[in-house]
Amino acid sequence: LAVAAGAGKSPDRTDPKHGIAPLQELCADDMRRVNEEILARMDSRIPLIPEVASHIVAAGGKRLRPLLTLASARMCGYQDGARHIGLAAAVEFIHTATLLHDDVVDESALRRGKASANEVFGNQSSVLVGDFLFARAFELMVESGSLEVLRILSHASAVITEGEVLQLAAANDVSTTEETYLKIIGAKTAALFAAACRTGAVVAEAGSEAEEALETYGWHLGLAFQVVDDVLDYSAAQARLGKTVGDDFAEGKITLPVVLAIARGADDADQQAFWKRTLEQVDQHDGDLAHAMSLMGRHRALDDAIAGARDHAATAKAALAALPAGPIRDALADTADFCVDRDY
Ligand code: IPE
Ligand code: IPE
Ligand code: MG
Ligand code: MG
Repeated sequence: LAVAAGAGKSPDRTDPKHGIAPLQELCADDMRRVNEEILARMDSRIPLIPEVASHIVAAGGKRLRPLLTLASARMCGYQDGARHIGLAAAVEFIHTATLLHDDVVDESALRRGKASANEVFGNQSSVLVGDFLFARAFELMVESGSLEVLRILSHASAVITEGEVLQLAAANDVSTTEETYLKIIGAKTAALFAAACRTGAVVAEAGSEAEEALETYGWHLGLAFQVVDDVLDYSAAQARLGKTVGDDFAEGKITLPVVLAIARGADDADQQAFWKRTLEQVDQHDGDLAHAMSLMGRHRALDDAIAGARDHAATAKAALAALPAGPIRDALADTADFCVDRDY
């Protein structure tokens, strides 16, 4: 396989948890080219643009979504061209743009282990450079020459924004249901995972069965990923996560752990009053986060959220059965487990 970037140093499969190392190793050569493309395309004659963009890009990130595009294309047999490189860069630009905007909306101070761009450069710069990266992503998509890819990724971009706006409307509403929560995370997160995967199949001209299988894989992977992200907001080690733990509670964001805890304490007036005061009125005092976490513990909210994520990861893995067996498919299965077991 031309993709065998890590050929020779095959991942240690005796380790029960492979994580994303196999995916990273198999795509290492391609990913180097994607990173070069990203650096080249975030340049501008206006110095503040590369300054802000490189602040977030150089801080790293897992590059999970472009890896999915690369791996999907290679698994489906894409060999000769370079269209997967530009499209993987476009996918990461869309993701990076949403992060710049999201940190403004969420007033987050920490991203990828560093002060967020809004913290360093201000909200205005973050919003405008996010717009620039979105626009660059569209240039890259047009260069791919595929109207189908343009359709998939432009639609995903619109859906992400719908998800963020729907979430804004549900913020501080303790009557938010699990159904609405799933609608939000499907739109803001799973749509891009699904589009990143499907794009790889389209580039490889793999046909509709492979396209749909990869879209299903990406969709459930994205749902699992975001549920776990929302659990990590209550449970992670902040230094490892690189984001401020407890942010969701502080801003009254209604995520799955909270939805489950509220529903399971529905017959307890004290608990209902607590959630209303802290999340709806955002009237919070010392000890409130700790109390929220003890209620989540009592109701097994974090454990059950993780169990739900594991179900989505299993559905994602099942979708891989329709795709060519081999090291890349195995690495994508490992990636589904990673999305549940991750601590960053
Ligand atoms: C963060 O995504 C935004 C969410 C969808 C939760 P990642 O956790 O993939 O962010 P980076 O790119 O690795 O920083
Ligand atoms: C991330 O959402 C932004 C998008 C998915 C568009 P969150 O606000 O839940 O993620 P973090 O915790 O800031 O990374
Ligand atoms: Mg956020
Ligand atoms: Mg979060």
